[in-house]
Formats: sequence, C-alpha cells, structure tokens
Amino acid sequence: VLVLDAAYAEYVRRNDYESGIELVATSENVVMCRTFSKIHGLAALRLGWMYGPAHIVDALNRIRGPFNVNAPAIAAGVAAMGDGAHVERSRAHNERWLAWLTEEIGKLGLEVTPSVGNFMLIHFPETKGKTAKDANALLTSRGLILRQLDAYQLPNALRLSIGSEEANRLVVSTLAEFLGKSA
Ligand SMILES: Cc1ncc(COP(=O)(O)O)c(C=O)c1O
Repeated sequence: VLVLDAAYAEYVRRNDYESGIELVATSENVVMCRTFSKIHGLAALRLGWMYGPAHIVDALNRIRGPFNVNAPAIAAGVAAMGDGAHVERSRAHNERWLAWLTEEIGKLGLEVTPSVGNFMLIHFPETKGKTAKDANALLTSRGLILRQLDAYQLPNALRLSIGSEEANRLVVSTLAEFLGKSA
C-alpha cells in the first residue's frame, strides 16, 4: 500500500502539484491522508481523513479503535470544511510571508531551500559561533521556537514555520543580529 501524506496540500498553489486524488481513484493500493491540524488550525482535536479504495477503508474500519474521533472534533471539522474564508485567508497569509521570509533570510546570506508549504529549511554555516545550534540558542532565548533537524540528518539546518507577521519579522531581525548584519 502506498500512503500519500498530503498534510500541507491546501497551501500549495503550484499547478504541477497533485495531492493524490487522481492516483487513489485510479489505483487499488494507494491511499491519501489529510489533516485538520495544518491549514484548519485544529491540531489539538486529532482529526483527519483518508481517501482510499473501499477494501482498504473497510480493513481500517475493522482495526481502528471504537469512537476514535469524538463528537466535538467531528462538529469542528464540519464547521472547518464550510469555512472557506479561513482557508483562503491562511493560504494568502502563507503565500505572502513565505515569499518575504525566503527573500529576507536569503538576503542575510543564509541558504533557504525553496518551499511550497508553510515551512522552510534554513541552512547555516559550520563556522564556530554561526551554526544552526548557535542560532537556535539565540532564537529560543527570544521565544522563537524553530525545529532542529539532527534527527533528519540535517544538523546544519533549522526548520521555520510561517508565523504571524510579528513573529516572522522577529525571526528575521534576530537572525540579522545573530549574523551581525542589519535586516
Ligand atoms: C507531513 C505531516 N503529516 C502529518 C502531520 C500531522 O498530522 P496530525 O496532526 O493529523 O497527526 C504533520 C504535522 O506534524 C506533518 O508534518
């Protein structure tokens, strides 16, 4: 079985992206998972959905725990599906600030892996005092929580999720300070 995790599909605006709906519809062994944790902002509800062939859905229904999704989460999920304005607002916010962060952090001289989701990968030099770990220590001391990526074999990078305007601006000014540059 091929499982396509399309947790960030709603953020992607490129027309060469296919989240998997077509592949599921034309295959017997492909499923696609989606979550309410990302663009809908409902991570604490533990709610998601899966699209797959009937025989796989049937097998899952037989092994899943009873009442594995609670009624308030279902109600919130239904409301979220009807709230297209929220999704559109979140997508527009992400599009604007992803581009801004990519450009501003790039201008500081750090390499950024291009992203179409709501997070980005920032690469740091191995120079003592300028490493990802050093940057993370300063960012954390300012209340900015990025993700260290040693577990993904990327010890020289940090993952940044697109945040509020205030948080985004603070990340850039803190990184500028860290590198001894003006933002
Ligand atoms: C690729 C990916 N899939 C799924 C999830 C989480 O989804 P859920 O909160 O529904 O378990 C995340 C977020 O942490 C993720 O990054």
